[in-house]
Amino acid sequence: MKIITRSERKTENLGKEIGEKLKGNEIIALYGDLGVGKTAFTRGLVNCFGIKNAVTSPTFTLVNEYTTPKFKIYHFDMYRIKTLEDLESTGFFDYMNKGVFVIEWSENIEDYLPEGTIKIYIEKNKNENERIITLRGEI
Ligand SMILES: Nc1ncnc2c1ncn2[C@@H]1O[C@H](COP(=O)(O)OP(=O)(O)OP(=O)(O)O)[C@@H](O)[C@H]1O
Ligand SMILES: [Mg+2]
Repeated sequence: MKIITRSERKTENLGKEIGEKLKGNEIIALYGDLGVGKTAFTRGLVNCFGIKNAVTSPTFTLVNEYTTPKFKIYHFDMYRIKTLEDLESTGFFDYMNKGVFVIEWSENIEDYLPEGTIKIYIEKNKNENERIITLRGEI
């Protein structure tokens, strides 16, 4: 499925729509360059559960954890992840099946994404505020 969003708010809204469909153990892999809107999407997804925390890229913490009334959300940033050891250090394998994963820079951990991962590709379009968002997988 392909969707074009024309503002940051619209990308957040898409995150919200997907968030509302989740059961609690989905793995959502986000793909796309710097500043494309991965965090905006994640913010919408997290905030749809009434979580008021500011949602930012966990570039230094590697993972941020949000407790919603339904399940936990683990928000990863794999920007700096290069090796399996790096990945283990994020808690990726420990947290698996304990909540929903939303992963920025999934390109860096492609080999470790389990079957059934929902893949979301975000690309810039010609107009500055447009993003082409492609969803692959069952939600
Ligand atoms: N349609 C759109 N959807 C999402 N963001 C948009 C859109 N149009 C413009 N923007 C802008 O693009 C930027 C997206 O930033 P965001 O932090 O979400 O990117 P990111 O992919 O998480 O980047 P990083 O890889 O650095 O973590 C924001 O400045 C936002 O205002
Ligand atoms: Mg980000």
